[in-house]
Amino acid sequence: MTIREAIRAGESQLAAAGIDTARLDAELLLGHLLDLPHLELWLRQSEALTQAQAAKFERLLDRRAAREPLQHITGWTSFLRLDLHVTRDVLVPRPETEILAQLAIEHLKLRPPPLSALDWGTGSGCLALALARGVPTAEIVAIDASPDALRIARANATAHRLADHLHFLAGRGWEALRTANPARALPSRFDLIVSNPPYIPTAEIETLSPEVRDHDPRLALDGGPDGLNCFRELATTAASWLKSDGRMLLEFGDGQAPALQDLFRENGWGINAVEKDLSGRERILIVDPPRS
Ligand SMILES: C[S@@+](CC[C@H](N)C(=O)[O-])C[C@H]1O[C@@H](n2cnc3c(N)ncnc32)[C@H](O)[C@@H]1O
Repeated sequence: MTIREAIRAGESQLAAAGIDTARLDAELLLGHLLDLPHLELWLRQSEALTQAQAAKFERLLDRRAAREPLQHITGWTSFLRLDLHVTRDVLVPRPETEILAQLAIEHLKLRPPPLSALDWGTGSGCLALALARGVPTAEIVAIDASPDALRIARANATAHRLADHLHFLAGRGWEALRTANPARALPSRFDLIVSNPPYIPTAEIETLSPEVRDHDPRLALDGGPDGLNCFRELATTAASWLKSDGRMLLEFGDGQAPALQDLFRENGWGINAVEKDLSGRERILIVDPPRS
């Protein structure tokens, strides 16, 4: 079987399993297996696979056809040109979160040094690493309730030689930071807080695609009955961890913008902006802390 034939067969199998990106996924899986970049795969379409390669490709296709996320099968994803290791212990970073990262970098760069930022619910570490690379002088703290997720985030930081700029802390909410300070002398107030918290209403999780519903960690998805539990926690507690002229940037779900703006206003925050994602949906809330 040639590379061209293998991709065609893979495309049909994945399309039959209901995968919209069947062709691309078949190409990416074969590229991963053969360790060939996309263009090289295309240039070598007429070359034959060995029997062992064909058998391995079948196994990868079977996993993808069972709706395991492509990124879990390859173990990798890309976030703002950072290659990140991902497993089922972390949410696979989404393209819309790249916008959040870019905005956070821009906001942080505008401020006078010394700079510090906190990533609340870091998962794979995507936001924290993007901040550490984008603003190398900043001290970045990343927290997560899942010690398993933090293991992945730490490994990603080490792989990108960013570990010196980052502190990873395990614990729910601010508990992680409260426990770590003062022994580790971390900032007690940050220039910027960034978060992509779990924001899916609990009952909606069952309606999501199998890739998300069955493979992303529940802790990364479940935002409580209306999806807003973590935002309530942040609206009522985050100000005491933010400098008085600091800023908080939050990713949120479809249709949550009005309720979130009300929530933050009621708690004294100023609404700085609501930014859209690439599909034009309101996706990011930027807020200024209450004036004391
Ligand atoms: C939607 S994921 C975002 C992960 C990553 N920041 C990203 O954008 O891909 C939310 C993360 O928050 C963590 N988390 C959920 N509840 C938390 C809590 N109460 N305190 C700290 N982290 C929490 C989850 O473990 C998960 O890693």
